[in-house]
Amino acid sequence: MGVLLDIRNLETWYGPIAAMQGVNLQVEQGQMVTVLGANGAGKTTLLNTLAGVIDPFKGEVLFNDQKVHGLDADEVCRRGLVLVPEGRQIYPFLSVRENLNMGAYTRTDGSQTEQDLARVFEWFPRLLERQEQHAGLLSGGEQQMLVIGRAYMSQPKLLMLDEPSLGLSPLLTKEIFNIISRIRHETGTAVLVVEQNAAIALAHADYGYIMELGRIVAADTCSALSQKADVREAYLGGHATQGLSGTQQRWKRRKTWR
Ligand SMILES: Nc1ncnc2c1ncn2[C@@H]1O[C@H](COP(=O)(O)OP(=O)(O)OP(=O)(O)O)[C@@H](O)[C@H]1O
Ligand SMILES: [Mg+2]
Repeated sequence: MGVLLDIRNLETWYGPIAAMQGVNLQVEQGQMVTVLGANGAGKTTLLNTLAGVIDPFKGEVLFNDQKVHGLDADEVCRRGLVLVPEGRQIYPFLSVRENLNMGAYTRTDGSQTEQDLARVFEWFPRLLERQEQHAGLLSGGEQQMLVIGRAYMSQPKLLMLDEPSLGLSPLLTKEIFNIISRIRHETGTAVLVVEQNAAIALAHADYGYIMELGRIVAADTCSALSQKADVREAYLGGHATQGLSGTQQRWKRRKTWR
C-alpha cells in the first residue's frame, strides 16, 4: 500500500496565533485514519488546511506525490481530497437530489453521475425516499448522511470528515460510522476522520493521531492507542464524569505521552 496523503511539518496561524505546528501525518491508500483531540486542539484547522480553505504558513501537503498546499479549495477537491465540514452545510431550499448533484460540480471529466447517485441511495435509503424533498426538512442525522453522500459525488480518493457524530444519538452515530466503513471497503476510498467520540473512531479506523494544543502528541495503530492508559483515561471513559474541561486541564499538565 502506497502513501496517499503525506503531511510534512505543517503549520497554520490565525493572525498572531499558531493553531497548528509541526504536524506530520500519513494516510495510506484505502486506509482509515482518525485524529482525536480535545476542543481547540486544532483538528478543524488541520482539515481546513488540507482542504485548501486555509493556507498553511509552513510545511507540505503531498497527495499522490503532488503538492496540493496553496491550491484553491475547489482544485484540491478536484484532485480527490474532499472535506465534509463540521456543521452540515446543506442547501435547505434545494431538494435532496439537487444537493447531492451539487457535489458533482467539480467534475471535469464529464463522467456520469447516475451510477454514483445510485450508490449513495444504496448506502442511505432514507435519502432515496426523500430525494424530492427540501433538504432543510431533513433531520440532523439525515443531513449528515446528505453531506457525506454529496462528498461522495465529488469522487473522493480521500474522504475527510470533521466530527460526523456531532449532535447525533449514539445509535445514529453508529449507523453513520458503519456506512463510512462501508463506503471505504466497497470503493477503496481512504478516510481521514476527526472525532470527539474516540471509542467509535478507534473501533473503525486503522491508525490514529492524538492532537493537543496544535501538535501531534501520539500516533499509533488504533488497537495500540486503545490500550494506552493515557488515551483510555482522557478519551475512553476513565474520567467520563469530569467532562471535557477536566480532560483538557489534565492534558495541559501532562506534557509527555508514552
Ligand atoms: N478563524 C479563527 N481565528 C482565530 N482563531 C481561530 C480560528 N479558528 C480557530 N481558531 C483557534 O485555533 C485553535 C484551534 O481551533 P480548531 O477549531 O482547529 O480546534 P478543534 O480541535 O477543531 O476544536 P473543536 O473540537 O472544538 O472543534 C483554537 O484555539 C481556536 O480558538
Ligand atoms: Mg473542530
